[in-house]
Amino acid sequence: MFDKIQLGYQYNELEPYIDAATVETHYGKHLQTYVNNLSALLEGHDEIAKNKTLEDILSDINSIPESIRQGVINQGGGVANHNFYFSILSPNPKKAPEGKLLEAINNKFGSFEGMKDKINNVSIAHFGSGWGWLVIDENGELEIITTTNQNSPLSINKEPLLTIDVWEHAYYLKYKNLRAEYVKNIWNVIDWSKIESIYEGYVK
Ligand SMILES: [Fe+2]
Repeated sequence: MFDKIQLGYQYNELEPYIDAATVETHYGKHLQTYVNNLSALLEGHDEIAKNKTLEDILSDINSIPESIRQGVINQGGGVANHNFYFSILSPNPKKAPEGKLLEAINNKFGSFEGMKDKINNVSIAHFGSGWGWLVIDENGELEIITTTNQNSPLSINKEPLLTIDVWEHAYYLKYKNLRAEYVKNIWNVIDWSKIESIYEGYVK
């Protein structure tokens, strides 16, 4: 029902920053498991998904029956968060933002480097499994947050612009316990042309 996105690159194309075995396992096994679990969870609940995207559902999570709500947060968040993560990575990324987005970043964080430092710091410091995010908050302002487990920013009224998966499965095969090295290296494959177009969609 809600499937994983098609990757715009081969498993080995994010090397040396993210290795082929990690992409293959992360996308092909971890994400697929979330897809399968979500599908099983929604069996018999066709009305929930009718005419809705997964993002619509996560944005209105309190409308989900309580009996399956936490499951949808976990498994649906697992699908949506990973699809978003894999969609903003590229072997040939635009390395920095320009235009309106750069202006908003400079206004909020002082500089592009200042924004990167802040998201790196919170992502590295996040205890346990979760995600670092650059989002648009409920007032239309840029904000840096983390979420725990598979919680989606959409469920707290924030729109994702950029994310870093800091679950160990995202980096452990290559980086072992060195989350900070993975977080610093991922910027080499984050494609700002994609993030700019998401931002322009929200602010137009
Ligand atoms: Fe992950």
